[in-house]
Amino acid sequence: MRVSTGRREGAGALIAGSVAGLVSLAALLGGTPAAAVTHAPDGETRIVNGDETGDGQYGFVAALLSVDRLAVDGIYQSQFCAGTLTTATTVVTAAHCVVDPGTGVAAMPEQILVGIGRSLRSDALRQVPIASILVHPGYQPIEWRNDIAVVTLAEPVDGVPALMPLQQFEQGSYAAAGTPATVLGWGNAAKGGNAFPEDLRAGSLVLFPDRACSKEGRYRVGDVDFTGYSPADADRATMLCASGVNSAGAIIDSCQGDSGGPLVVGSGASFRLVGIVSWGDDCASRRPGVYTRVSAMTDFLAANGAIDIRPPSAAPSITAQAQSTSIRVTFTPAPDGAGIETFAATATDAAGATFACYAKPRKDGRPAVCSIQGLVRGTTYSVSAISANPAGNSPPANPIVVSPSAMPLPVQ
Ligand code: ARG
Repeated sequence: MRVSTGRREGAGALIAGSVAGLVSLAALLGGTPAAAVTHAPDGETRIVNGDETGDGQYGFVAALLSVDRLAVDGIYQSQFCAGTLTTATTVVTAAHCVVDPGTGVAAMPEQILVGIGRSLRSDALRQVPIASILVHPGYQPIEWRNDIAVVTLAEPVDGVPALMPLQQFEQGSYAAAGTPATVLGWGNAAKGGNAFPEDLRAGSLVLFPDRACSKEGRYRVGDVDFTGYSPADADRATMLCASGVNSAGAIIDSCQGDSGGPLVVGSGASFRLVGIVSWGDDCASRRPGVYTRVSAMTDFLAANGAIDIRPPSAAPSITAQAQSTSIRVTFTPAPDGAGIETFAATATDAAGATFACYAKPRKDGRPAVCSIQGLVRGTTYSVSAISANPAGNSPPANPIVVSPSAMPLPVQ
């Protein structure tokens, strides 16, 4: 893997994936001399082949700034990695951003500031001090497994919506192969040079099948054939592979300086942090970028307060349709962003007897459906429903009264 040297030479700090030529965190934090500033020619895209972002569009993206560099060279030169605000007081980043590869020692909280804002221009960024840095106990600096750390802020960042990490139980519905995803960062935009943007960039990617991260094989996106990684190089349990191809056939990828930053899926209430920029084979090559698999890190994130674990706050909306001896129920989750593991519907008769059915959320986003069976024609039932995740249940939906006899019955 290539390591960037120009511009922000600390970018991707300790980084780099392969053994040779790492910029050490010690060197970065110690303030190596600034290199000449290089800008991409006008009109050239960044992240590699990314797009501009709007103000506040991705407010949860955090810049990691080296305190020593900041004093000498300003914000732009001091940015070396990114992270994601997952609660008002936690930023999730890559372990390799905050661990010195030479010594294996994590940075001290005083050495790093978190920057919140889209632009690295000096006056535009909110600077937040940090209280602690917690590295995943299973982080393996050689194989890059469990490349994740939680940075706890010394003061809450209010007024900026945090991004929920994808949890283990949500994996199936959000992280299927082929899902469109967006990677965000201030990293190098030049495939073969150095062009570090001042403003946050976004790249449109697609999630690769899990096996691309543990089996060399061919994977086609658009007209480009990618090659996966062998199990000796990558680990599908803790890593996720993703890359993109634009309409002109150019490969879209994260690059040096993007490390630690978010790979996101979904939109609106179902926005989730699905990956963390970790490593790759060069940038925008025919091997996908490799991201920390966030859904495999639920326990670590929960133990360190980086997931706001809560049950669904409101009932799902339901429809109940009587059939001859059953009631078909559809469920739409409340738009509160809580992940749903299961929906349950009950039909209760006048005597208090209860019948139930269960459904999982659908991957295609359409309403989940189940059918309450074994009902009696001509009986009136009160139908209600809840949604549930590992943190608990939603309140029940307002009951709908349904009678299977209301259904016109075919005469045999
Ligand atoms: N390790 C790099 C960093 O620290 C990120 C590299 C990502 N590479 C890629 N081809 N997606 O900034």
